[in-house]
Amino acid sequence: MKVLLVGSGGREHALAWKLSQTPALDELHAAPGNPGIAELGACHPVRPEDGEGLLDLAHDLDADLCVIGPEAPLVAGVADELRHAGVSVFGPGAAAARIEGSKSFAKEVMAAAGVPAARALSVARAPCVLKVDGLAGGKGVFVCRTAAELDAALGAAASYGAGLLIEELLEGEEVSVFALCDGREALPLPAARDAKRLADGDLGPNTGGMGSFSPVPALPAHRVAEIVETVHRPVLEELARRGTPFVGLLYAGLMLTDDGPRVLEFNARFGDPETQSLLPRLESDLLEPLAAAAAGELGGVETRESADAAVTVVVAAGSYPEGGDAGTPIDGVQEARAAGALVFHAGTALRGERLVTNGGRILGVTGVADTLEAARELAYAAVGRIAFPEARHRSDIAAGAVGARA
Ligand code: AMP
Ligand code: GLY
Repeated sequence: MKVLLVGSGGREHALAWKLSQTPALDELHAAPGNPGIAELGACHPVRPEDGEGLLDLAHDLDADLCVIGPEAPLVAGVADELRHAGVSVFGPGAAAARIEGSKSFAKEVMAAAGVPAARALSVARAPCVLKVDGLAGGKGVFVCRTAAELDAALGAAASYGAGLLIEELLEGEEVSVFALCDGREALPLPAARDAKRLADGDLGPNTGGMGSFSPVPALPAHRVAEIVETVHRPVLEELARRGTPFVGLLYAGLMLTDDGPRVLEFNARFGDPETQSLLPRLESDLLEPLAAAAAGELGGVETRESADAAVTVVVAAGSYPEGGDAGTPIDGVQEARAAGALVFHAGTALRGERLVTNGGRILGVTGVADTLEAARELAYAAVGRIAFPEARHRSDIAAGAVGARA
């Protein structure tokens, strides 16, 4: 099979890495890809939002499957454009991707599907959570425990120029549950937990994610399967009933509250960095279920999760999440790999032969071992080998979960 992978982040590098292990893969292409992906396949300078350019590329390559990584092209309808032209696509069309692109739409679908979610509030009064109703790269959510935090959040949220939602503030352990979907069937993948806040101790602003780990001790495989039955499947049914079936990866962000799991958000794609912890734990092949989902034939396909644990630590630019960095030389990637870790490129570029920074989140470093503790040690030993000016990372990824039993 020839696969065209769309995107350029750590998630796409992890997808490329896993897909490359499939004997059925003949050629891997990426648009635009990144220097890590370029070690595994051919990168083409086409932007993820350029539907026409992607269609031309898919036709030129005679691609059998197009896998769309990021949310922006999905919400913009790139999957529709490709699908209408006869390309087999893993990724939802614009109408189904609204489950991520519009938080009010997601709430409406969840209510219709009877899925337990955080309650919407009509008045902004602390404690509460303020959410920008649109794509904000994981940064448009403000958890307000005090009136002062709420005032600051109202000011910051106004700058997005989108509608606002107010929600009850839920307490509990946060988990991410993923399912591959073909419009009707949902196939669970290993659950993960990501660290959204910038700084240790879950302090600082929300980011796209500073690290992740899998498995989540509080969520053994049978509970993951239960959540997929009570959350993902009803949402799939509701979207299909509306004539907008969801084909792709449906990602539910949940809070495990004392009253049971509550959905905080949906994403219409693989999580980043969660994918970098999840795919190393997928023992079975990835290409087959992605192709089967795209073809609407997921029934009967199975996945197998390994007993290993994986911990991913994101190494970001000093100014992330407000800004990023470009052109600064990065040292130590080979040394980090030599230490036994997987190093996924997230925001990198090549200047000549030199690897340089090119984004906010620069690299994802994943340790895989038989326990979370050993995986964590491996990841941090490797992170210690990576160096560029003002690099930052959290030092407590998976720290709270170490020692807990699934
Ligand atoms: P979201 O993009 O909706 O997942 O929100 C980003 C982060 O904000 C989540 O991962 C949670 O840490 C936090 N959050 C969102 N909604 C709530 C809520 N209702 N209660 C508590 N925390 C929340
Ligand atoms: N890490 C959070 C996300 O991918 O949305």
